[in-house]
Amino acid sequence: MKNFYITTAIDYANGSPHLGHAYEKVLTDVIARYKKLTGHKVHFLTGLDEHGQKVQQSAKAAGIEPVKLCDEQAEKFLGMCKLLNVSNDDYIRTSQPRHIKVVRQILQRLFDEGQIYKAEYKGFYSARQEQFLQEKDKVDGAWPEIFGTVTEITESNYFFKLSRHQDWLVDYIKSHEDFIFPRFRAKQVLEFLKEPLNDLCISRPKDRLEWGIPLPFDENYVTYVWFDALVNYISAVGYGTEDFEKNWPADYHVIGKDILVPPHSVYWPIMLHAIGCPLPKSLLVHGWWLSKGEKMSKSLGNIVNPLDLVERFGADPFRYFLMREMNVGQDSDFSFDLFLSRYTSDLGNDLGNLLSRLLNMVHKYRGGVLPAPKVDEDFEKSLRASALEAVKETLALYEGMQFHLGLDKTFGFIRNINKYAEQRAPWKLAKGEDKNSQDLLDTALFHMAEALRIASVLIAPIMPSVSERILNLLGHSGLEVFEGNTLWDNRLEGKLLGEKEILFPRPVMEGEDAKK
Ligand code: ME8
Ligand code: MG
Repeated sequence: MKNFYITTAIDYANGSPHLGHAYEKVLTDVIARYKKLTGHKVHFLTGLDEHGQKVQQSAKAAGIEPVKLCDEQAEKFLGMCKLLNVSNDDYIRTSQPRHIKVVRQILQRLFDEGQIYKAEYKGFYSARQEQFLQEKDKVDGAWPEIFGTVTEITESNYFFKLSRHQDWLVDYIKSHEDFIFPRFRAKQVLEFLKEPLNDLCISRPKDRLEWGIPLPFDENYVTYVWFDALVNYISAVGYGTEDFEKNWPADYHVIGKDILVPPHSVYWPIMLHAIGCPLPKSLLVHGWWLSKGEKMSKSLGNIVNPLDLVERFGADPFRYFLMREMNVGQDSDFSFDLFLSRYTSDLGNDLGNLLSRLLNMVHKYRGGVLPAPKVDEDFEKSLRASALEAVKETLALYEGMQFHLGLDKTFGFIRNINKYAEQRAPWKLAKGEDKNSQDLLDTALFHMAEALRIASVLIAPIMPSVSERILNLLGHSGLEVFEGNTLWDNRLEGKLLGEKEILFPRPVMEGEDAKK
């Protein structure tokens, strides 16, 4: 069976990891873990985009070789992945021989087939964006700020014949509903494709840019960064070898909305089509994390360092926040207050307290051993119905990438477990020495534990460590797949539960600048 193959964008090596990068990795990881839990074999790729002028400039400013700078950056970005508990199977760097080889092989083939040609180019060039511009890129007669200083240059370059594939691409997007998710983004692509495409300049003269992949047919040039970077998705999984089909076509390329048009929705499909390679099944396009309405970015300097929050609160609360707050595809505003409120109310009060109070009571009243249920009345029936509904709806929402709603559903269920605890009030039942009270006490403890077990299974893709921790405390050994594990049953009966544990300690605010 083919692997479920999922990728993130590869991060630019010239910046530091920030919330946007962290989100994309976590989202992709959540999908990867969800797929594993539904029984798929998964291959998860992420990596680093190393070539280009900005890296060359930063390296020069630091007085080191570009590759040295990229080594340091790779360590930082990989460090973030580890800290966030991201389960990637591979990490590609575009300076690796396995990648360079494939880029050159594709360029040579397109050149031999006449799909790449040389021409003289005169035009406007933005060094900041490493991109040629046209009159139509002007806004009110001036170059927008994002392009930095724009200069007019004349040079010979190599061009890839994009235009001849334009009609094919329009048809492809129109006839493949699943190619771009969410669907409304496809409209933007089709809008862009209403204008005739220019051929793509895929070379940069070496005297201007050295830190790149040399063209195989002209060593005076290196490859344009996008033509280089996009190829990572196939070079990493052995394009041109027998292994390739174990993974390709990719099931999802997870990317941010800023790199959909034109790189992922125009250049990449056309590059693949031009070499006769099948297209990825779907581009999953997420929105931006904003700070007071503005995109967080290096140049704006309004970056939240995700690692600060992770170090303070742990990876899982951070992952929970990202997945709970953002509707995949839309933008979301980050605020520390919102993070703190999710942490204290959803995680601390609803989930954490449920666990600690349950463990506490089972130890206090039953020597730590979970009793079997003795009665089955309306309260129990309605809790089980709530579990059944939460499982069904949460999994359907996860399947449709609606993680924020799936979590909402599951935490609604967790609140129902707390409601059940209030209704049965085991702490009161414990005072009654009659059989009826003791039977109800057994029943209540068992039902709280079994319901909590099911809720913990549902949160596994988002909070893998918390999920595992709770399951272990409930005397459950592990979790490989959802199937069977989301069913209400008696597996916890007679288990020795762990000692009371505080999973989400109250943050210490005194004497600390919590709102920085
Ligand atoms: O674009 N919110 O790299 P990159 C959400 N190297 N996502 C964000 C974000 C934000 N505020 N800021 C950035 C590149 N991202 C290229 C990709 S792929 C062959 C080459 C997302 O480091 C962004 O949308 O600028 C992109 O998907 C990813 O982070 C890497 O951005
Ligand atoms: Mg960017």
